[in-house]
Amino acid sequence: MKASLYLISLIALAGCSTQQPAKDGTLTLKDALGKHEILAGVAVNVDEVAGRVPKAQDVITANFSSIVAENCMKQEKIVPEQDKYFFDDADSLVAFGERNGMKVIGHCLVWHSQAAPWFFTDAKGGEVSRDTLISRMKNHISTVVGRYKGRIYGWDVVNEAIEDDGSYRQTPYYKIIGPEYIEIALKAAEEADPDAELYLNDFSMSKPGKRDKYVELVKDLKLKGCRIDAIGMQSHNGGDYPDLSEYEKSMDTFAACGVKVMMTELDLNILPKPEDFGGGANVGDEFKYRDELDPYKDGLDEQAQKLFDDRYLAFFKIYEKHKEQISRITLWGVSDKTSWLNDWPVEGRTSYPLLFDRDYNAKPVVQKIIELF
Ligand code: XIL
Repeated sequence: MKASLYLISLIALAGCSTQQPAKDGTLTLKDALGKHEILAGVAVNVDEVAGRVPKAQDVITANFSSIVAENCMKQEKIVPEQDKYFFDDADSLVAFGERNGMKVIGHCLVWHSQAAPWFFTDAKGGEVSRDTLISRMKNHISTVVGRYKGRIYGWDVVNEAIEDDGSYRQTPYYKIIGPEYIEIALKAAEEADPDAELYLNDFSMSKPGKRDKYVELVKDLKLKGCRIDAIGMQSHNGGDYPDLSEYEKSMDTFAACGVKVMMTELDLNILPKPEDFGGGANVGDEFKYRDELDPYKDGLDEQAQKLFDDRYLAFFKIYEKHKEQISRITLWGVSDKTSWLNDWPVEGRTSYPLLFDRDYNAKPVVQKIIELF
């Protein structure tokens, strides 16, 4: 049985252009994860898609089987003014993914951060009514999802709806519409593209309160007739967070609800944490730059490098152990050079959170990850 399964996966591998080993015969991340039907994803920016960073394109196409837009599909970019959609960048990204046989993920439809400034405001500058916001939200979803119908593999429909303690995040969507906004959004997305996968995505998914709330949400939304294909655990990880056993527990708990689990925004920030920084990935968090928060301007020292390697491997060991539950692991960026963690939560630092260095070379840990799988 095992042998025949192995044979079938070999045949599947041979038939799928995105999972071929690199030209020189070496296995890459997408081959290794693809063996277990896990997509190897990466968030890409507009310069990379446009070919302005040729080394980046080589890394993306050689190592990854899925892409997601780091920014260009967010509301503030795609519809900066009321009903004036700007699709050029998103169109190029989708076309780039298709040209290279990659699964394209849409990020994201409903999110309080990077929202279009006009979205929650009426003509007089006051707060929009509930009915208006519902109709704007549905219209946004049907316009964007409808445009890429059949071309986007899955959508982050609602991003960051829940606080760490399990309460609803007090976003304009929640405050104006109420908790039903999640159900309305999922149904609108399904209607616009019934074949696209639908996801709820959030950071700090290892926090027990958040985990429990997502379990309750998934069950409740399914009873209300919503489809949810996977829970996205963003996984903006640090040197000492999240707690690995809590993180694993969240994977098991979500999978037990009958959804797949995805690591949707993986990176690893080992720079010193500002006091009062509680982990997570709230893009609104900002801390003042201080020299001591930026100790590796010229490269990681031996100890930091070891922490980086060990911690990445620890996460990937967990992913390997839970491989049946996972459908995608996406890195939040191609190279350290352009990672958002150079500027968040402290602006202007030199960070090393990704798997490819500033010259677009694979870090040694990549080979270890490949061997693991
Ligand atoms: C980040 C981008 O990487 C940055 O370029 C941008 O300035 C802010 O947003 N959670 C998410 C992502 O869902 O969309 C965020 O991406 C990181 C946190």
